[in-house]
Order: sequence, then C-alpha cells, then structure tokens
Amino acid sequence: MKHLQSKDLLGIKHLASGEIELILETAATMKHILSAPTKKTAHLQGKSIICFFLENSTRTRLSFELAAKYLGATSSNISGSGSSVAKGENLYDTAKTIDMMGTDMLIMRHPQSGAHEFIADKVSASIINAGDGMHEHPTQALLDAFTMKEEKGQIEGLKVAIAGDILHSRVVRSNIWTLTKLGAEVRVTGPATMLPRLIEQTPAIVCHDVKEACYEADVIMGLRVQLERQQAALFPSIREYARFFAIDEAVLKLAKPDAIIMHPGPCNHGVEMPTYIHEHERSVIHDQVMNGVAVRMAVLYLLNARRNLQ
Ligand code: CP
Repeated sequence: MKHLQSKDLLGIKHLASGEIELILETAATMKHILSAPTKKTAHLQGKSIICFFLENSTRTRLSFELAAKYLGATSSNISGSGSSVAKGENLYDTAKTIDMMGTDMLIMRHPQSGAHEFIADKVSASIINAGDGMHEHPTQALLDAFTMKEEKGQIEGLKVAIAGDILHSRVVRSNIWTLTKLGAEVRVTGPATMLPRLIEQTPAIVCHDVKEACYEADVIMGLRVQLERQQAALFPSIREYARFFAIDEAVLKLAKPDAIIMHPGPCNHGVEMPTYIHEHERSVIHDQVMNGVAVRMAVLYLLNARRNLQ
C-alpha cells in the first residue's frame, strides 16, 4: 500500500493492515531522520498544524508538536482553559473556527468518545485522534507496535499480555486492533470491574489474572489505572489490585526469557508495576517515548501525502 485511504486518522479499527504497515515503515525512515545531527526537514513546509488538547498530556502533545516542527510545518496549540471553550463554545464552532484559519491538520484530544468522527466530515482539515474518551488512541498503539517490531523483528506470532484498567483504556482498544490485524495474539487481564462487557466482541483473549496472561508472553504491557475516570471504587485497595494484576519479578519469570516490558505512560509506580520493573533492563518504556516522535512524524507525512492526492 502506498497511501492512506482517509484524510483523517480517527482510529485503528477501520484501518487496513497494509495502512498500519505503511505507517510503521515510514516511521522507520523518520527515525533515521531523527538520528541525524540536523533533524529538520521541509516535507511539511508551508503547512499549518494545530494541537487542540482538552485533556492533559505530556507525551502525545509534545511529540506531535516536535514532529510537526521537525517536518517544517507551522504549529500552534490551544487548550480548553485558555480558549473560548471555557466560555462555552461548542465543539463544532471551535473546530470550524480553527479550520477556517487555513489549518491543514487538527490534532485533537477530547474527553468524549466519538468527538473526532463528529467533526471529521464537517471540516477540510485532516483530523488526527490524539485520544478520545475511552474509545481509541491510535498513535499510541502505532508507536507500541513500532517498538515491538523494533525489538522482536515482527509482530506476527507475538503473544502480547496487557494488564490493568481495560475498562477506561483507549490505548488497549487501539492496541487490540493494531496487533491482531498484524497477526499477534493479544491477552488482556484486569479486575472484573475493569473489564468492559464488549471486550468479548474483540479478538482479545480475556485472562483471569496477570500470571495467566503473561505465561510465555513475548510482550508484557501495564496499563495505567485511570483513577480520574472512575465513578466508584473499582477495586478494594491498591494492595489487592497489585496482588492479582501488577507486573513484578514473579510475573516476569513466567514470560519468555527475552520478554519486553511496556507501559504507555504515565505510570502509577507501585500500582501497575514497581519502579524496578519500570526501569528493568528488559523495559522499553523510554524507547516507546522516543519512538512516539518518529511515528507521529510518519502520520503527519502520510496524511499530507493523502491530502496532496485530493
Ligand atoms: N500515553 C499518553 O497518551 O501519554 P500522555 O497522556 O502524556 O500524552
């Protein structure tokens, strides 16, 4: 596949496996560019990119901003508190206002699942989902897959265990679609109160606890317990959670000897995993952050190429 099919990146569920592979291959080229002494290129010169984040972010927002700058684009940011959203302006009016200023790509994080789909066909800018509610976080899954491929050579045939707050995680949904489309087996586990009923309708295998999920796994991924999205206490205590679902040395021993440890961040140290696992020699968590810039450069580059076809 040479081009992305859509002007937008709204999620992974509707991407073809060839499109995912194209993004990962392009990201490898971008990583070469990033390793050069002068990182800047002119691929997006003259293009205007806006980051509009209505939820907090360190990794996603900063890596998109850097990716846009490294590709030569003009980029600006707005957030909820500093914009007219705080005065009650609705999403359509806000998106249309940004669009009418000659914006080529609008990178948005929004607390509402489906917010990106709602505006995508109402604006001419390409809409990039940087996280929507509990739905999808496509570029996180793409950088996770890129990191796995870099470490393991290929995604096909990998056994990937994902433990934590499955209910609230947009990362797990995007990861299930990405990894199974590329031929991996995805196992998920978490407290019963943190497993959505709809998980049975995905290709993921649901496991009873973290030990079952991680048995002979190639990749072990912890997911942040999203305390800010919990309406009620979904587990009795941190100690109780950690007993069945935290990634520790005993869990690591059940996985393959060369299994890698991942986490999308930010991590609750001592909940999803202790600090020594986060900083373990088999942890690639810091590599995930680095690869996020290359993957987001690839997404911007490919969406711009798709726009040039229109
Ligand atoms: N993984 C992730 O989305 O992190 P941020 O919230 O820091 O962007």
